[in-house]
Amino acid sequence: MPETAAAPPGPPPGNAQWDRSFFGHPRGLSTLFFTEMWERFSYYGMRALLILFMTATVQKGGLGFSTSKAGSIYGLYTAMVFLLSLPGGWIADRITGQRRAILWGGIVIATGHFCMAIPRIDTFYLGLALIVLGTGLLKPNISTMVGALYSKDDARRDAGFSIFYMGINIGALIAPLICGYLGENINWHYGFGAAGIGMTLGIIQYVASARFLGTAGLTTTGTADDVRRFRLGAIVAAVVIAAGIVLTLTGAVSLTAEQISDVFGVVLIAIVILFFVWLLTTKGYSATDRGRFWAILVLFIASALFWSAFEQAGSTLNLFAERNTNMHAWDFPLWGLFRASYFQSFNSVFLIALAPVFAWLWIALRRHDPSSTAKFSIGLIFVGLGFAILIPVAGGTAVSPWWLTLTYLLHTVGELCLSPVGLSAMTKLAPVRIGGLMMGVWFLSISVGDYIGGRLASVYETFPLPELFGIVAGFCIVVGMLLVFLIRPMKRLMGGVN
Ligand code: PHE
Repeated sequence: MPETAAAPPGPPPGNAQWDRSFFGHPRGLSTLFFTEMWERFSYYGMRALLILFMTATVQKGGLGFSTSKAGSIYGLYTAMVFLLSLPGGWIADRITGQRRAILWGGIVIATGHFCMAIPRIDTFYLGLALIVLGTGLLKPNISTMVGALYSKDDARRDAGFSIFYMGINIGALIAPLICGYLGENINWHYGFGAAGIGMTLGIIQYVASARFLGTAGLTTTGTADDVRRFRLGAIVAAVVIAAGIVLTLTGAVSLTAEQISDVFGVVLIAIVILFFVWLLTTKGYSATDRGRFWAILVLFIASALFWSAFEQAGSTLNLFAERNTNMHAWDFPLWGLFRASYFQSFNSVFLIALAPVFAWLWIALRRHDPSSTAKFSIGLIFVGLGFAILIPVAGGTAVSPWWLTLTYLLHTVGELCLSPVGLSAMTKLAPVRIGGLMMGVWFLSISVGDYIGGRLASVYETFPLPELFGIVAGFCIVVGMLLVFLIRPMKRLMGGVN
C-alpha cells in the first residue's frame, strides 16, 4: 500500500547531493540527529535511575525491591526493547512508513516516561511497557531513515552514520547528569519526568523540521496481505496482554518477576535456536551461503556475549557505583555530591573522544585493517579486561572511582571495535533476500546480551562480587582468544566477505 500523501517540499532522497547544509550533509540529517539525541536522552536518563530506584528503600522513595527482583525486571525490560525492534522495523517497512513510525514511537515513549513520573507502582510498569513499545517503533526506523537520506553511491553515507552516532552519545552523555541529578538528589520521579520532557522536545523538533526529510520514509512496501497480518498480530498481542493483566489482577496467576523473566529467557533462547536451525537447514542455499551462515552463528554468540558484559553498565556496574565505590572522592563544590548515575555518562564521554581516533586508526591501517572476526575478538577481550581489573577491588566498599572509570574506558574501546562492524558484517554475510532479516538477528543478539546482563544483577547480593566479575571477565577473554584462532577458518567460511 504505497503512501500517496503529498510529500512536503524538500530535497528528494537519493538526489540530495547538492544539499550540504548540515556539516556537509543533507539537512534531513539534522532532523534525525536531534530526534535521536533526545530519544537517547530519555532512554539513558531513565535507565541510569532504573535499577537504583527499584532497589532503593521505600523510605528513600524507591520501590524497595531485592536485587533479585530488580535485576529480573531490568533484564526483561532492556531485552524487550531490542526484541520489539523486530516487529517495529517490519511495521514501518510494510504498514506505516518510517516517518510515521518514528513519530508514534516518540509519542508512546514520552507517555511512558510521564507515567513513570507518577509515583505509583501500576504506572511504573505501564511506563516501562510503553517505553518498550515506543522504542521498538522508533529506534530501528530512525537508523533506516538516515540511510534513506543518501543515494546508494553517495560517499557521505558512512560519515552520515558517524555524525548520527555522535547525536546518540551527546544525548546519552547529558541525560544521566540531568535525570540522575534530579532523580538521586531530589525525587526519583522528577528524573523520570525530565526524561519525558526530553523526548517531548525531540518530538516537537521532529515535527517542526520534518520538511527537511523530503520524501524519505514516506513509502511502504506492504501488500494487502501484510496489512491483514499486521491486524491479526496486533489483535493477538492485545489479547495476550489483556489476558495477562486480567489473570494477574484477579490473582488467578501470581508469577514473581523472577519467574516471568525466566519464562521470557527460555522463549528468547528458543527463538534463537529455532532461527539458526531454520537458517542452517533450509534447502536451496549454495555451499558459500551455508559457510556464511555458520560464520553468522559464531558472530552471533560473540555479539551476545559482548553485550551481556557491556550492557551491565546500567545494572551491576550501576549498583557497584552506588554501593561499593567511594564517590565522595569526587564531590564537587558547585554540584554537590557525586552520584552513581553520573557514571552512566562515562561511556559516551569516552566514545565521543575516541571515535575520531578509531576512525583515523582504521584508515591508517588500511591494508592491515583487521577482519570483522579480529575486531570482535579485540572487542570481547577489552570488555573482559574492563571486568578483570575490578576483580581485586570488587570486595571493597569504598573503592576509588578511578577503577570504574578505567572499566568504562576499556568497555568503550571494545565497543568501538565491535559495534560498528557488527551489523555490517551480518548484512554482508546474508544473501540479499534475507538481508533485512539479518538486521533483526543483530538486534536479537543484543537482546540476548541485555537479558543476561540484567539477570546477572539478580545475584548481586547473593554471589561474591569478585567471583561474579571474574566469571564475566573469564568468559569474554577466553571466547575473545578463541576467536583469534578462528580468524583464518572464519575467513574461509565467510567466502570473500571481510
Ligand atoms: N549506545 C548506542 C545506542 O544506544 C549503541 C548501542 C545499541 C549500545 C544497543 C548497546 C546496545 O544506540
